[in-house]
Amino acid sequence: MSNSPVMPDAKTTLFPVAQDLSGLNTLGLASRAGACVTLDQPSQLPALSALARERAPLLVLGGGSNVVLPETVPGLVARVRFQGVRLLEARADAWLVEAAGGENWHGFVSACVEQGWDGLENLALIPGTVGASPVQNIGAYGVELDQRFHSLTAWDVQQARMVDMSAADCCFSYRDSRFKHDAPGRWVIVSVRFVLPRPWRPVLAYPDLQRHERLSRTASPTARDIFDAVCEIRRAKLPDPAVTGNAGSFFKNPIVSAARRDELLARFPGLVSYAQPDGGYKLAAGWLIDQCGWKGRSLGAAGVHDRQALVLVNRGGATAADIMALAGAIQEAVAERYGVALEPEPVRV
Ligand code: EPU
Repeated sequence: MSNSPVMPDAKTTLFPVAQDLSGLNTLGLASRAGACVTLDQPSQLPALSALARERAPLLVLGGGSNVVLPETVPGLVARVRFQGVRLLEARADAWLVEAAGGENWHGFVSACVEQGWDGLENLALIPGTVGASPVQNIGAYGVELDQRFHSLTAWDVQQARMVDMSAADCCFSYRDSRFKHDAPGRWVIVSVRFVLPRPWRPVLAYPDLQRHERLSRTASPTARDIFDAVCEIRRAKLPDPAVTGNAGSFFKNPIVSAARRDELLARFPGLVSYAQPDGGYKLAAGWLIDQCGWKGRSLGAAGVHDRQALVLVNRGGATAADIMALAGAIQEAVAERYGVALEPEPVRV
Protein backbone atom coordinates (compact mmCIF):
# COMPACT_ATOMS: atom_id res chain seq x y z
CA MET A 1 0.00 0.00 0.00
CA SER A 2 1.44 3.39 -0.91
CA ASN A 3 0.44 7.03 -0.72
CA SER A 4 -1.15 8.02 -4.01
CA PRO A 5 0.46 10.86 -5.96
CA VAL A 6 -3.06 12.22 -6.56
CA MET A 7 -4.15 14.45 -3.67
CA PRO A 8 -7.46 16.30 -3.73
CA ASP A 9 -7.39 19.96 -2.68
CA ALA A 10 -8.92 20.64 0.72
CA LYS A 11 -11.09 23.67 -0.04
CA THR A 12 -14.51 22.09 -0.71
CA THR A 13 -17.17 22.00 2.01
CA LEU A 14 -19.98 19.44 2.27
CA PHE A 15 -23.45 20.15 3.61
CA PRO A 16 -25.33 17.05 4.80
CA VAL A 17 -29.06 16.79 4.10
CA ALA A 18 -31.76 14.32 5.15
CA GLN A 19 -32.23 11.66 2.46
CA ASP A 20 -34.80 8.97 1.76
CA LEU A 21 -32.77 5.81 0.99
CA SER A 22 -35.74 3.56 0.06
CA GLY A 23 -34.98 3.86 -3.65
CA LEU A 24 -31.22 3.65 -3.06
CA ASN A 25 -31.02 0.05 -1.78
CA THR A 26 -31.87 -2.84 -4.10
CA LEU A 27 -33.75 -4.74 -1.36
CA GLY A 28 -36.15 -1.76 -1.44
CA LEU A 29 -36.27 -1.47 2.36
CA ALA A 30 -37.87 1.73 3.66
CA SER A 31 -34.92 3.64 5.06
CA ARG A 32 -33.91 7.20 5.79
CA ALA A 33 -30.70 9.00 6.66
CA GLY A 34 -30.71 12.11 8.85
CA ALA A 35 -27.45 13.27 7.24
CA CYS A 36 -26.33 12.39 3.74
CA VAL A 37 -23.77 13.83 1.34
CA THR A 38 -23.23 13.06 -2.33
CA LEU A 39 -19.65 12.80 -3.56
CA ASP A 40 -19.27 13.81 -7.22
CA GLN A 41 -15.58 14.72 -7.16
CA PRO A 42 -12.55 13.37 -5.27
CA SER A 43 -11.85 17.00 -4.27
CA GLN A 44 -14.72 16.61 -1.76
CA LEU A 45 -12.93 13.85 0.16
CA PRO A 46 -10.95 15.96 2.68
CA ALA A 47 -14.25 17.61 3.65
CA LEU A 48 -15.76 14.15 4.09
CA SER A 49 -13.04 13.22 6.58
CA ALA A 50 -13.72 16.35 8.63
CA LEU A 51 -17.48 15.75 8.59
CA ALA A 52 -17.16 12.05 9.41
CA ARG A 53 -15.26 12.93 12.60
CA GLU A 54 -18.21 15.06 13.78
CA ARG A 55 -20.99 12.80 12.58
CA ALA A 56 -19.70 9.22 13.03
CA PRO A 57 -20.47 6.48 12.13
CA LEU A 58 -20.03 6.85 8.36
CA LEU A 59 -21.80 4.58 5.88
CA VAL A 60 -20.35 4.65 2.35
CA LEU A 61 -23.10 3.77 -0.10
CA GLY A 62 -22.48 2.63 -3.67
CA GLY A 63 -25.34 1.00 -5.59
CA GLY A 64 -26.93 -0.23 -2.33
CA SER A 65 -27.03 -3.77 -3.71
CA ASN A 66 -25.29 -5.52 -0.83
CA VAL A 67 -26.71 -3.82 2.27
CA VAL A 68 -29.57 -4.43 4.66
CA LEU A 69 -30.56 -0.96 5.87
CA PRO A 70 -32.45 -0.11 9.08
CA GLU A 71 -35.39 2.33 9.03
CA THR A 72 -33.10 5.11 10.22
CA VAL A 73 -29.41 5.07 9.36
CA PRO A 74 -27.46 6.71 12.18
CA GLY A 75 -24.52 9.07 11.63
CA LEU A 76 -23.56 10.12 8.13
CA VAL A 77 -24.19 8.51 4.73
CA ALA A 78 -21.92 9.28 1.76
CA ARG A 79 -23.14 8.41 -1.73
CA VAL A 80 -20.27 7.82 -4.13
CA ARG A 81 -20.91 9.03 -7.68
CA PHE A 82 -17.44 9.55 -9.21
CA GLN A 83 -17.69 8.94 -12.97
CA GLY A 84 -15.28 8.06 -15.78
CA VAL A 85 -13.86 5.10 -17.72
CA ARG A 86 -10.57 5.22 -19.61
CA LEU A 87 -8.00 3.03 -21.25
CA LEU A 88 -4.72 3.60 -19.40
CA GLU A 89 -2.53 1.39 -21.55
CA ALA A 90 -2.83 -0.95 -24.53
CA ARG A 91 -0.02 -3.37 -23.70
CA ALA A 92 0.84 -6.29 -25.97
CA ASP A 93 -0.19 -8.71 -23.21
CA ALA A 94 -3.14 -6.80 -21.69
CA TRP A 95 -5.51 -3.87 -21.70
CA LEU A 96 -5.20 -1.72 -18.59
CA VAL A 97 -8.55 -0.02 -17.96
CA GLU A 98 -9.56 2.32 -15.16
CA ALA A 99 -13.08 3.08 -13.93
CA ALA A 100 -14.24 5.55 -11.29
CA GLY A 101 -15.84 4.11 -8.14
CA GLY A 102 -19.30 5.54 -8.80
CA GLU A 103 -19.67 4.01 -12.28
CA ASN A 104 -22.45 1.46 -12.60
CA TRP A 105 -20.78 -1.98 -12.79
CA HIS A 106 -22.88 -3.38 -15.62
CA GLY A 107 -22.54 -0.15 -17.61
CA PHE A 108 -18.77 -0.43 -17.25
CA VAL A 109 -18.74 -4.10 -18.35
CA SER A 110 -20.92 -3.23 -21.38
CA ALA A 111 -18.58 -0.35 -22.30
CA CYS A 112 -15.56 -2.69 -22.13
CA VAL A 113 -17.22 -5.29 -24.38
CA GLU A 114 -18.21 -2.50 -26.76
CA GLN A 115 -14.61 -1.26 -26.97
CA GLY A 116 -13.16 -4.76 -27.40
CA TRP A 117 -11.51 -4.70 -23.94
CA ASP A 118 -12.62 -8.25 -23.28
CA GLY A 119 -12.37 -10.25 -20.06
CA LEU A 120 -15.16 -8.97 -17.80
CA GLU A 121 -18.12 -10.37 -19.83
CA ASN A 122 -18.81 -13.23 -17.38
CA LEU A 123 -19.51 -10.55 -14.75
CA ALA A 124 -22.31 -8.87 -16.76
CA LEU A 125 -25.48 -7.66 -15.07
CA ILE A 126 -24.17 -7.75 -11.48
CA PRO A 127 -25.94 -4.90 -9.69
CA GLY A 128 -23.91 -2.21 -7.90
CA THR A 129 -20.99 0.09 -8.60
CA VAL A 130 -17.37 -0.34 -9.68
CA GLY A 131 -16.23 0.93 -6.26
CA ALA A 132 -18.19 -1.78 -4.47
CA SER A 133 -16.90 -4.57 -6.71
CA PRO A 134 -13.63 -5.20 -4.82
CA VAL A 135 -15.36 -5.03 -1.41
CA GLN A 136 -17.01 -8.41 -1.81
CA ASN A 137 -14.73 -9.54 -4.66
CA ILE A 138 -17.71 -10.09 -6.96
CA GLY A 139 -17.74 -13.27 -8.99
CA ALA A 140 -20.02 -15.13 -11.37
CA TYR A 141 -20.00 -17.74 -14.13
CA GLY A 142 -16.40 -18.80 -13.60
CA VAL A 143 -14.69 -15.40 -13.16
CA GLU A 144 -13.87 -13.57 -9.94
CA LEU A 145 -12.95 -9.89 -9.84
CA ASP A 146 -9.51 -10.57 -8.30
CA GLN A 147 -8.52 -12.46 -11.51
CA ARG A 148 -8.90 -9.22 -13.50
CA PHE A 149 -7.90 -6.76 -10.78
CA HIS A 150 -4.80 -4.58 -11.16
CA SER A 151 -4.95 -2.00 -8.34
CA LEU A 152 -7.20 0.64 -6.82
CA THR A 153 -7.05 4.11 -5.36
CA ALA A 154 -8.95 4.70 -2.14
CA TRP A 155 -9.44 7.57 0.26
CA ASP A 156 -8.58 6.71 3.84
CA VAL A 157 -11.31 8.59 5.68
CA GLN A 158 -9.63 8.15 9.08
CA GLN A 159 -6.20 9.43 8.07
CA ALA A 160 -7.39 11.81 5.33
CA ARG A 161 -5.03 10.54 2.65
CA MET A 162 -5.25 8.92 -0.77
CA VAL A 163 -3.62 5.48 -1.10
CA ASP A 164 -2.93 3.02 -3.90
CA MET A 165 -3.54 -0.65 -3.16
CA SER A 166 -2.37 -3.75 -5.01
CA ALA A 167 -4.32 -7.03 -5.06
CA ALA A 168 -2.18 -8.27 -2.13
CA ASP A 169 -3.11 -5.15 -0.13
CA CYS A 170 -6.80 -5.90 -0.71
CA CYS A 171 -6.55 -9.49 0.76
CA PHE A 172 -9.07 -10.97 -1.68
CA SER A 173 -10.69 -14.35 -1.15
CA TYR A 174 -14.09 -15.83 -2.03
CA ARG A 175 -16.64 -12.98 -1.59
CA ASP A 176 -14.23 -11.29 0.78
CA SER A 177 -11.56 -8.57 1.05
CA ARG A 178 -9.95 -6.34 3.67
CA PHE A 179 -12.77 -3.83 3.12
CA LYS A 180 -15.18 -6.21 4.86
CA HIS A 181 -12.93 -6.39 7.93
CA ASP A 182 -11.40 -2.92 8.32
CA ALA A 183 -13.41 -0.43 10.41
CA PRO A 184 -16.74 0.33 8.65
CA GLY A 185 -16.58 3.69 6.87
CA ARG A 186 -12.77 3.70 6.73
CA TRP A 187 -12.43 3.62 2.92
CA VAL A 188 -13.98 5.33 -0.08
CA ILE A 189 -12.91 3.49 -3.23
CA VAL A 190 -12.22 6.24 -5.74
CA SER A 191 -11.13 4.24 -8.80
CA VAL A 192 -10.31 0.66 -9.77
CA ARG A 193 -7.88 -0.52 -12.44
CA PHE A 194 -8.38 -3.78 -14.31
CA VAL A 195 -5.87 -5.82 -16.27
CA LEU A 196 -7.54 -7.70 -19.14
CA PRO A 197 -5.15 -10.29 -20.65
CA ARG A 198 -4.46 -10.40 -24.41
CA PRO A 199 -4.99 -12.58 -26.29
CA TRP A 200 -8.43 -12.96 -24.77
CA ARG A 201 -9.55 -16.46 -23.81
CA PRO A 202 -13.22 -17.32 -23.22
CA VAL A 203 -14.17 -18.76 -19.81
CA LEU A 204 -16.90 -21.28 -20.59
CA ALA A 205 -16.57 -24.03 -17.98
CA TYR A 206 -19.39 -22.94 -15.64
CA PRO A 207 -22.29 -25.45 -15.92
CA ASP A 208 -24.92 -22.80 -16.78
CA LEU A 209 -22.77 -21.62 -19.73
CA GLN A 210 -22.15 -25.20 -20.89
CA ARG A 211 -25.89 -25.78 -20.87
CA HIS A 212 -26.68 -22.53 -22.73
CA GLU A 213 -28.05 -23.69 -26.07
CA ARG A 214 -26.94 -20.91 -28.42
CA LEU A 215 -23.53 -20.58 -26.80
CA SER A 216 -22.81 -24.31 -26.91
CA ARG A 217 -23.67 -24.34 -30.65
CA THR A 218 -21.28 -21.42 -31.40
CA ALA A 219 -17.90 -22.69 -32.60
CA SER A 220 -15.76 -19.74 -31.42
CA PRO A 221 -17.83 -17.62 -29.06
CA THR A 222 -16.86 -13.94 -28.74
CA ALA A 223 -16.91 -11.90 -25.53
CA ARG A 224 -20.18 -10.41 -26.81
CA ASP A 225 -21.70 -13.92 -27.14
CA ILE A 226 -20.74 -14.69 -23.53
CA PHE A 227 -21.98 -11.30 -22.33
CA ASP A 228 -25.36 -11.94 -23.98
CA ALA A 229 -25.60 -15.50 -22.61
CA VAL A 230 -24.75 -14.39 -19.05
CA CYS A 231 -27.41 -11.66 -19.27
CA GLU A 232 -29.99 -14.21 -20.45
CA ILE A 233 -29.12 -16.70 -17.70
CA ARG A 234 -29.21 -14.06 -14.98
CA ARG A 235 -32.52 -12.62 -16.25
CA ALA A 236 -34.07 -16.10 -16.22
CA LYS A 237 -32.86 -17.02 -12.73
CA LEU A 238 -32.43 -13.88 -10.70
CA PRO A 239 -35.09 -11.30 -9.86
CA ASP A 240 -34.65 -7.79 -11.31
CA PRO A 241 -34.19 -5.45 -8.32
CA ALA A 242 -36.15 -2.77 -10.21
CA VAL A 243 -39.17 -5.10 -10.03
CA THR A 244 -38.60 -7.24 -6.91
CA GLY A 245 -36.35 -6.00 -4.11
CA ASN A 246 -33.35 -8.29 -3.51
CA ALA A 247 -29.63 -8.21 -2.73
CA GLY A 248 -28.50 -11.08 -4.97
CA SER A 249 -27.20 -14.14 -3.14
CA PHE A 250 -28.05 -13.64 0.50
CA PHE A 251 -25.58 -16.25 1.78
CA LYS A 252 -22.05 -17.24 0.81
CA ASN A 253 -21.53 -20.77 -0.42
CA PRO A 254 -20.01 -22.42 2.68
CA ILE A 255 -16.58 -24.02 2.43
CA VAL A 256 -16.03 -27.32 4.28
CA SER A 257 -13.21 -29.86 4.58
CA ALA A 258 -13.00 -32.83 2.19
CA ALA A 259 -13.81 -35.20 5.09
CA ARG A 260 -16.96 -33.24 5.97
CA ARG A 261 -18.05 -33.11 2.32
CA ASP A 262 -17.58 -36.91 1.96
CA GLU A 263 -19.63 -37.50 5.08
CA LEU A 264 -22.44 -35.27 3.77
CA LEU A 265 -22.28 -36.81 0.29
CA ALA A 266 -22.74 -40.29 1.78
CA ARG A 267 -25.92 -39.15 3.52
CA PHE A 268 -27.16 -36.80 0.75
CA PRO A 269 -26.06 -38.16 -2.65
CA GLY A 270 -27.46 -35.12 -4.56
CA LEU A 271 -25.19 -32.69 -2.68
CA VAL A 272 -23.73 -30.05 -5.05
CA SER A 273 -20.10 -29.22 -4.22
CA TYR A 274 -17.05 -27.79 -5.96
CA ALA A 275 -13.43 -28.73 -5.18
CA GLN A 276 -11.31 -25.79 -3.99
CA PRO A 277 -7.61 -25.27 -4.75
CA ASP A 278 -6.75 -25.78 -1.05
CA GLY A 279 -8.40 -29.25 -0.92
CA GLY A 280 -11.65 -28.05 0.70
CA TYR A 281 -15.09 -28.04 -0.93
CA LYS A 282 -17.55 -25.24 -1.59
CA LEU A 283 -21.16 -26.36 -1.08
CA ALA A 284 -24.00 -24.83 -3.12
CA ALA A 285 -25.96 -23.00 -0.41
CA GLY A 286 -28.88 -22.59 -2.85
CA TRP A 287 -29.15 -26.38 -3.08
CA LEU A 288 -29.07 -26.79 0.73
CA ILE A 289 -31.81 -24.17 1.19
CA ASP A 290 -33.86 -25.62 -1.67
CA GLN A 291 -33.64 -29.14 -0.15
CA CYS A 292 -34.84 -27.77 3.19
CA GLY A 293 -38.03 -26.75 1.36
CA TRP A 294 -37.55 -23.00 1.60
CA LYS A 295 -37.58 -22.14 -2.13
CA GLY A 296 -40.54 -19.87 -2.95
CA ARG A 297 -41.66 -19.65 0.69
CA SER A 298 -42.23 -16.47 2.70
CA LEU A 299 -42.05 -15.31 6.28
CA GLY A 300 -44.06 -12.12 6.62
CA ALA A 301 -43.06 -9.73 3.84
CA ALA A 302 -39.71 -11.43 3.23
CA GLY A 303 -39.48 -14.36 0.83
CA VAL A 304 -37.19 -16.85 -0.88
CA HIS A 305 -37.00 -16.41 -4.67
CA ASP A 306 -38.81 -19.20 -6.52
CA ARG A 307 -36.05 -19.79 -9.12
CA GLN A 308 -32.92 -19.43 -6.95
CA ALA A 309 -33.19 -20.26 -3.25
CA LEU A 310 -30.02 -18.31 -2.41
CA VAL A 311 -31.83 -15.03 -3.12
CA LEU A 312 -34.11 -13.46 -0.51
CA VAL A 313 -36.69 -11.02 -1.80
CA ASN A 314 -38.81 -8.19 -0.45
CA ARG A 315 -42.39 -9.16 -1.26
CA GLY A 316 -43.48 -5.57 -0.50
CA GLY A 317 -43.00 -3.49 2.64
CA ALA A 318 -40.41 -5.77 4.27
CA THR A 319 -38.13 -4.32 6.95
CA ALA A 320 -34.57 -5.27 7.87
CA ALA A 321 -36.04 -7.26 10.78
CA ASP A 322 -38.28 -9.27 8.38
CA ILE A 323 -35.32 -10.09 6.14
CA MET A 324 -33.12 -11.07 9.08
CA ALA A 325 -35.90 -13.20 10.64
CA LEU A 326 -36.23 -15.15 7.38
CA ALA A 327 -32.44 -15.45 7.08
CA GLY A 328 -32.31 -16.76 10.67
CA ALA A 329 -35.00 -19.37 10.01
CA ILE A 330 -33.12 -20.58 6.93
CA GLN A 331 -29.80 -20.73 8.80
CA GLU A 332 -31.47 -22.79 11.53
CA ALA A 333 -33.03 -25.24 9.05
CA VAL A 334 -29.75 -25.76 7.17
CA ALA A 335 -27.75 -26.13 10.39
CA GLU A 336 -30.20 -28.68 11.75
CA ARG A 337 -30.31 -30.83 8.63
CA TYR A 338 -26.75 -30.52 7.33
CA GLY A 339 -24.78 -29.21 10.31
CA VAL A 340 -23.53 -26.40 8.06
CA ALA A 341 -23.47 -22.72 9.11
CA LEU A 342 -24.57 -20.22 6.43
CA GLU A 343 -22.96 -16.80 6.54
CA PRO A 344 -24.95 -13.84 5.18
CA GLU A 345 -23.29 -12.00 2.30
CA PRO A 346 -24.83 -8.50 2.47
CA VAL A 347 -23.64 -6.10 5.12
CA ARG A 348 -26.20 -5.41 7.84
CA VAL A 349 -26.03 -1.75 8.82
N1 EPU B 1 -29.31 -24.87 -6.77
C1 EPU B 1 -30.45 -25.56 -6.41
N2 EPU B 1 -31.53 -24.86 -6.01
C2 EPU B 1 -31.56 -23.51 -5.95
C3 EPU B 1 -30.40 -22.81 -6.31
C4 EPU B 1 -29.29 -23.50 -6.72
O1 EPU B 1 -30.47 -26.78 -6.44
O2 EPU B 1 -32.58 -22.95 -5.56
C5 EPU B 1 -28.16 -25.60 -7.27
C6 EPU B 1 -28.02 -25.39 -8.78
O3 EPU B 1 -28.77 -26.32 -9.51
C7 EPU B 1 -26.54 -25.57 -8.99
C8 EPU B 1 -25.94 -25.06 -7.71
O4 EPU B 1 -26.96 -25.07 -6.72
O5 EPU B 1 -26.23 -26.93 -9.14
C9 EPU B 1 -25.32 -23.67 -7.84
O6 EPU B 1 -26.30 -22.76 -8.30
P1 EPU B 1 -25.94 -21.52 -9.24
O7 EPU B 1 -25.16 -21.97 -10.41
O8 EPU B 1 -27.18 -20.74 -9.49
O9 EPU B 1 -24.92 -20.65 -8.40
P2 EPU B 1 -24.81 -20.30 -6.86
O10 EPU B 1 -23.65 -21.02 -6.29
O11 EPU B 1 -26.11 -20.47 -6.19
C10 EPU B 1 -23.13 -18.33 -7.22
C11 EPU B 1 -22.99 -16.90 -6.81
C12 EPU B 1 -23.90 -16.03 -7.68
C13 EPU B 1 -23.47 -16.19 -9.12
C14 EPU B 1 -23.61 -17.67 -9.51
C15 EPU B 1 -23.10 -17.94 -10.90
C16 EPU B 1 -22.43 -16.93 -4.45
C17 EPU B 1 -22.87 -16.63 -3.05
N3 EPU B 1 -23.33 -16.74 -5.41
O12 EPU B 1 -24.47 -18.73 -6.93
O13 EPU B 1 -23.69 -14.68 -7.31
O14 EPU B 1 -24.26 -15.41 -9.99
O15 EPU B 1 -22.82 -18.48 -8.59
O16 EPU B 1 -21.72 -17.87 -10.91
O17 EPU B 1 -21.28 -17.29 -4.64
C18 EPU B 1 -24.50 -12.88 -5.98
O18 EPU B 1 -23.45 -12.95 -5.34
O19 EPU B 1 -25.36 -12.02 -5.72
C19 EPU B 1 -24.76 -13.86 -7.03
C20 EPU B 1 -25.93 -13.91 -7.66
